[in-house]
Amino acid sequence: MGFPKGFLWGGATAANQYEGGWNEGGRGPALTDVTTGGSVNSPRMVTWIDKDGNPHKTPQTPCDDSLPEEGAHYAVLDGELYPNHEATDFYHHYKEDIALFAEMGFKMFRMSISWSRLYPTGVEETPNQEGVEFYRNVFTELKKYGIEPLVTIWHFDTPLYLVEKYGDWQHRDYVKYFERYARTVLTEYNGLVKYWLTFNEINNTISFLGMMAPASDADFQKAATHLHYQFVASAITVKMAHEINPDYMMGCMLSLPTQYPHTCDPADVLATEHAWQKSVYYCGDVQCFGDYGPSAKRIWDQYHIVLDYTDEDKKILKEGTVDMFTFSYYMSMNITTHQSDDMVSGNFTFGVRNPHLVYSDWGWAVDPTGLTYTLEKIYDRYRRPLMVVENGLGAFDTVEEDGSIHDGYRIDYYIPHIKAMSEAIDNHVDLIGYTTWGCIDVVSAGTGEMRKRYGFIYVNKHDDGTGDMSRSRKDSFFWYKKVIASNGEDLSK
Ligand code: BG6
Repeated sequence: MGFPKGFLWGGATAANQYEGGWNEGGRGPALTDVTTGGSVNSPRMVTWIDKDGNPHKTPQTPCDDSLPEEGAHYAVLDGELYPNHEATDFYHHYKEDIALFAEMGFKMFRMSISWSRLYPTGVEETPNQEGVEFYRNVFTELKKYGIEPLVTIWHFDTPLYLVEKYGDWQHRDYVKYFERYARTVLTEYNGLVKYWLTFNEINNTISFLGMMAPASDADFQKAATHLHYQFVASAITVKMAHEINPDYMMGCMLSLPTQYPHTCDPADVLATEHAWQKSVYYCGDVQCFGDYGPSAKRIWDQYHIVLDYTDEDKKILKEGTVDMFTFSYYMSMNITTHQSDDMVSGNFTFGVRNPHLVYSDWGWAVDPTGLTYTLEKIYDRYRRPLMVVENGLGAFDTVEEDGSIHDGYRIDYYIPHIKAMSEAIDNHVDLIGYTTWGCIDVVSAGTGEMRKRYGFIYVNKHDDGTGDMSRSRKDSFFWYKKVIASNGEDLSK
């Protein structure tokens, strides 16, 4: 059967990693603006000043953005490099980039809106018009080429002011500020955008907890509170979207590091099931079924979590379930209750090494079969149209003397993943789109590096901040163009 007619082929990005223009056009700062670069072995650092005026750097954590100390504030420090400030400068290159996406034949382009470009602190009554116009121009440009935008409303970039005032989604007021922001985008871009995602990788907050370092009951309480307010904000957004335009397609977005039992010891199988409950079902059930599932209650019991879960919340969660389930897929991980010396190390990758798989330079397991497995498992549980909205290989690229970039390794990664999706479709999974991650080189979220590149389009920008931002086509550019033109039939190199 293969890919259905009208399948949405394309690529994905996020404002904080791609857009740049961090202090232009009236934009306010976000947490990524006070986050330095790191590497596979050294974490990104968040920079801040304590109540006595002393500067500090502390490791970034994917689970909690709260200020490290009372009385402190986040700050851009002299002598530090902040890769997201300029990123790869979509802000000034959007026309050129969209023309390149169109040349590849993109049907869909995933991007996010920077909350603090529209609401610089998050609490303004009305949006920053210059920001509103920027995205209108981008969507109009996409429309010119017949490219459907897929817009993430929140991709890791809460305005810094809100984080400092209310902690990391630890206050119900977040819901009202997010609702105001979401209403703006859903009304301003009505007619230009049809596909929306509320929160990117919403499950990271709980999924990583306890994997990198032991997590206490208090850590779980914080994560559950954070998620609850995001679930409510998401459901309000979905409901409001359908009132504004019944044709809007609203999606959740989860990270899917697929997890396998490392051995057939029943204890490993149960531990793996519990890992799926924590990292996927906890969020997926609320966003698709409109309520927490029984496994969420098991987690509440285990960590003594008490939620501020009102009757009004219960109603809105039921009314704001999503139309489609979207996810990122890069790798799988193995879970075991046994001791092992062969652990995987890399950025945001954990568990025991899987002897059947090869690993990327950043320690991510390359597992195309896991994509078929994941698509079937997720579709079986949630029965909504699916999109794989991130997938790809972060790799070192070399620019040859003549300017060409021979990234055959990237093509080798994509071919079996595309076959894996085709197999899932043959197995009756309703997969409607595929947007590869970082279709143009962007700053890595995990490491802040430029040299961890995913793109079909190379951007001349480097870890030390040098580079003229010029764009060039890699070999994979021409290959993906052929894949799209043949609707996934011609995968030859
Ligand atoms: C996902 C994020 O976690 O993975 C993206 O949604 C991110 O923002 C992507 O860039 C790849 O991760 P990394 O660390 O290689 O940039």
